[in-house]
Amino acid sequence: MSLLIKNGEIVTASERYIADIFCEGETITRIDKHIAAPKGAEVIDAQGKFVFPGFIDPHVHIYLPFMGSSSKDNYVTGSRAALVGGTTTLIEMCCPARKDDALEGFELWMKQAAGKSACDFSFHMGVARFDEKTEKQLREIVKRGISSFKIFLAYKGAFGVDDTELYRTLKLAKELGVIVTAHCENETLITERSRELIAAGKTDPGQHHESRPPAVEAEGVHHLMSFAELTGAATYIVHLSCKEALDQAIAARQRGVRVTIETLIQYLTLDKTDAEKPNFEGAKYVMSPPLRDRRNQEVLWNGLRDGLIQTVATDHAPFDFKGQKSMGKNDFTKIPNGIPSLEERIKLLYTYGVKTGKIDLHTFVNAASTQVAKTFDLFPRKGTIQPGADADLVVFDPNYRGKISVKTQSMNLDYSAFEGWKVEGRPSEVTVRGQVAVRNGKFVGEHGHGKFLQRKPSHF
Ligand code: URP
Ligand code: ZN
Ligand code: ZN
Repeated sequence: MSLLIKNGEIVTASERYIADIFCEGETITRIDKHIAAPKGAEVIDAQGKFVFPGFIDPHVHIYLPFMGSSSKDNYVTGSRAALVGGTTTLIEMCCPARKDDALEGFELWMKQAAGKSACDFSFHMGVARFDEKTEKQLREIVKRGISSFKIFLAYKGAFGVDDTELYRTLKLAKELGVIVTAHCENETLITERSRELIAAGKTDPGQHHESRPPAVEAEGVHHLMSFAELTGAATYIVHLSCKEALDQAIAARQRGVRVTIETLIQYLTLDKTDAEKPNFEGAKYVMSPPLRDRRNQEVLWNGLRDGLIQTVATDHAPFDFKGQKSMGKNDFTKIPNGIPSLEERIKLLYTYGVKTGKIDLHTFVNAASTQVAKTFDLFPRKGTIQPGADADLVVFDPNYRGKISVKTQSMNLDYSAFEGWKVEGRPSEVTVRGQVAVRNGKFVGEHGHGKFLQRKPSHF
């Protein structure tokens, strides 16, 4: 099986040039001008289009039992949506609850994906409890190819750890060279403020923000940074949403704390007023940390441009508006948290970031692919275009014009948070290890082709 992508403009995190890409089997084997197609090779003409390395979403929930419900996508719908959107690898949060066994959780999450995913995948291993048995299991899970943990400072009782567990998890991570990804919000403040708001009859979705304002997130980041400073562990702040939290992370980085920062496409494009929409529409926009005041968007875009923020993810967590978000009709604390966007991240980042001049093409590729691969031990197999790398390629048509709609999305969901939004450009052809998974914007991939990616820790 061979594949030739001709005449495209190759864009990586550091280079931009026109050339042909030849792939044999699963691998890129040659990049040159005017490569002649061998007999039997599939040829894709990318004239007038960009060719990007396959995008990697470092923060996805596909299987997520959460807040009395379970997320709507599975690996059939989720990996299809990822690929149509140009994401060829996703890293899912494996989130067993505190009461669950970690190893059984890992195996359960693996079972959801293996044989079903059309894109490649890995997991961040959730640590919801830290005791002797869990520690042994975490060591075993790392041997099985996982090089990142996930901890929640919020959601105590479900996934959240206490400070002793946080400290011990970070110590273990440091010993094993594992990077620890963390949801940073102060749980006590959220619980107390939510209780006060509900008691005062403030139950609508807009109150979600008031229950966890920027100071709640900034405190969570500061908390994690103190523990990281004293353990020396490498950390990764997931879904950073605001200036106050960014300031804490940057101050820690300047003291020598090892921290990588992720923001989300939602925080770059949506804001707090979306969650204040009347008639409970705001529930579609409830996630944690909450969408922020619009002034934060400039801070996040500039942080991305200047390299203060390294990655852009989705935190895809799909809950239907009708059957699931509606559970919080009279109490915002019961609205399942999440704004799905696995399918839309790349189009939105390109349209509202690159096309508006907020970030350049290289920053775009870096934040959505290369830096993710580097941080999570997938580089250079993933995250770039060079001989020897996996043939994960996105032929991107910058002349496409369209609109986002629930009617045309692949995600298994009854709404789109971006309904009617214009996009300029889209992935037209997408390959996963040499196999075409999207042609002319339509999914043609194979469920089961997606592989679990073994990763080796490097953050010693
Ligand atoms: O609102 C969110 N972020 N939902 C998904 C779970 C999480 O906190 O990442
Ligand atoms: Zn989170
Ligand atoms: Zn998440």
